[in-house]
Formats: sequence, structure tokens, C-alpha cells
Amino acid sequence: MAIFVLTVVGLMFAASAVNAEQVKDFRMCRSTNCVVYDLFIDPCPEALDNKVCELPQATNVSIAFKYKPKFGSNLPKTRLYAQIFMLDLPFILQMDTNACLYTSCPVVKDTEQNWLYNVFLPKNYPRTGYTFMFKFWDTEPNAHSDDAQCCFKFDVRIV
Ligand SMILES: *[C@@H]1O[C@H](CO)[C@@H](O)[C@H](O)[C@H]1NC(C)=O
Repeated sequence: MAIFVLTVVGLMFAASAVNAEQVKDFRMCRSTNCVVYDLFIDPCPEALDNKVCELPQATNVSIAFKYKPKFGSNLPKTRLYAQIFMLDLPFILQMDTNACLYTSCPVVKDTEQNWLYNVFLPKNYPRTGYTFMFKFWDTEPNAHSDDAQCCFKFDVRIV
């Protein structure tokens, strides 16, 4: 019995050390020009049951994924939107839109790259369901906006 309890406690520690779970339920936007895979959100134990992530207020949330863009960019910008009532609101207005803070620059066409957002979810963030829309795009003058953007969506609930 004691060994069983120790094992369970050990597994709990092991699990809490790596809280990020793979989120399979995401979808690309209509207007996008990239491939996205290996999306991990921390914390999101709900993903183990294929349920929507429940992000508690006043916690640090990380969103990590790999992507392969079909465009390159020296000056990429990014925004994470929280869609609610058909409106696209910036998830956190203060988040820096310089994409080079979250991925390595330049963004190279047809090359696998990593993305990592670490954001603090404020303690008064309205508790409800949202569709998060992630976007990044090239800002160079000759960029065609639809060809030079990467966009996908996933659902979350803030609790
Ligand atoms: C969130 O992360 C920041 C920076 O790493 C840290 O100082 C802070 O204590 C964290 N907050 C919580 C609630 O974990």
C-alpha cells in the first residue's frame, strides 16, 4: 500500500513538472498560408480528454507550436485575438506585436520553426468561452496580405 501511494505521488509530481498537453482540436483560418502542428498549451489537462482548455485567471499560460510558413519574413508581426460575439478582440492589448519575440527571425519559407507565447492571464479576465485566433503576417511593403499570413483558431474557456 505504501509503495502504491508513493508511486501515485511520484506520478503526480512527474505530471505537474510537464503540464503542457497537446491540443489536437484546432483549425486553420480560411485565409492562411502555413502548416501548423504540435500545438501544446500549459496548463490544459482537459486536452487529455479532448476537451476545451480551461485556463484559470491569474496564471501564466504558455502556447507553443511548430509551423512551416509558405512565405518568408524579416519583419513579421503577430496578434492573438479572443473572438467573442463575432468580434475579434486582441486577447491582451499590451502583448508585443513583434513576432521576433516569440519565434526566431527571419522567418524562413518552407522551414519548420517554433513559436512560443508566455502570457499572464489577468485575474479579472472575463470568465467565459472564447475562440482564440492566432495570426502572424509579413509587413514588408510588397507582401500580399493573404499570401503572407499564418492563422489558426482554437477554443478555450477562461475559468
Ligand atoms: C508568472 O510568471 C512570472 C514571470 O516568470 C512570475 O514572476 C510569476 O510569479 C508567475 N505567476 C504565477 C501566478 O505563476
